Amino acid sequence: MPGGLRMKSNARDGENLMARARAHWSADRLQRLMAGKRLPLHPVTHAAFLHATGLMRDDASVTSGQVKKYLQINHMISLIAPPFRALAKAMPGRALTLLDAGCGNSYLSLAFAFLAREAAAGRMPQIPDWKDTKFELQVIGVDTNADVIRQSAERAALLGLQDVMSFQKAELSAAVLPERLHAVMALHACDTATDDALALGLHRQADILAVAPCCQAELAQHFKSLGAKSGADHALDVILHSPNLRRDTAATFTDALRLALVRALGYEATATEFIPSAHTPKNRLILAERRGRYNKAGLASFLALKEASGSPVLALEKAVSDLLAERFPAA
Ligand SMILES: C[S@@+](CC[C@H](N)C(=O)[O-])C[C@H]1O[C@@H](n2cnc3c(N)ncnc32)[C@H](O)[C@@H]1O
Repeated sequence: MPGGLRMKSNARDGENLMARARAHWSADRLQRLMAGKRLPLHPVTHAAFLHATGLMRDDASVTSGQVKKYLQINHMISLIAPPFRALAKAMPGRALTLLDAGCGNSYLSLAFAFLAREAAAGRMPQIPDWKDTKFELQVIGVDTNADVIRQSAERAALLGLQDVMSFQKAELSAAVLPERLHAVMALHACDTATDDALALGLHRQADILAVAPCCQAELAQHFKSLGAKSGADHALDVILHSPNLRRDTAATFTDALRLALVRALGYEATATEFIPSAHTPKNRLILAERRGRYNKAGLASFLALKEASGSPVLALEKAVSDLLAERFPAA
């Protein structure tokens, strides 16, 4: 089809989709989807984005799986956008470079890049917070899976985001990245890939770290061996000998150790629930903002917690051992 005709037919497709979205998303359905919240992506206003990324069907409806992803990315963006706004204010006119580690289908970073562009063009009136959001994001998505990298690049191109997004099929440790990374995020990067993402951000002194950890096996295994060795003789005895408690506690302790270590290395960091657990049980967000190079009280708190959990040396500690040695030479 000649270029002019293709553009006309794309515009017509867009209008048809919007008309279907308006018809489908009654006030009642919107209330059920958004529960009265003002989420950054609206199913009518942003129908074209949701459809292009596979988060909306041709008839403008969404499946229960799409609803889960839709809510995850909206809630995650609502939480991570404020530090980006603060950073952009501190560095006016500079594009912020964001690494999406283990990007998979890149829903989150496609949405964030898209919304940053919308906001910069003044098209986010329904979310008061976004009125002042005028920053350009340069996103780099990295994943070991060639198929998701190809699909993410295609979707970015479809959305006209190819100038601000690039994708690499690589292990995080082998990715070719710019010297300056302002932010590193990882949504459900498998097992210790979360630690690889955090370690990368810490080594590059990224201003913002945002990770929602995935499954966790490392400390659970350590707890299992500790239970076998110590019999009933350990303060965590009840936990060590119950597989269910052991798995849950290991995941919580691992995130607490991650939080403490990130704080020790100079970040202000919090752990929060980014979405109710009904949507995903992996709903913890560790969000950290760089404030300095190190924090001795943070290190003391990390070491105490490590001792209380049976002195494991987990992936993140191993990956940042050089930073710990450099910043705490006497420890
Ligand atoms: C559960 S998926 C999550 C994908 C995406 N972040 C999301 O939330 O939709 C985890 C992704 O991490 C990728 N991954 C795991 N370990 C990795 C590593 N060391 N380097 C790069 N990618 C990795 C996997 O290939 C997979 O696509």
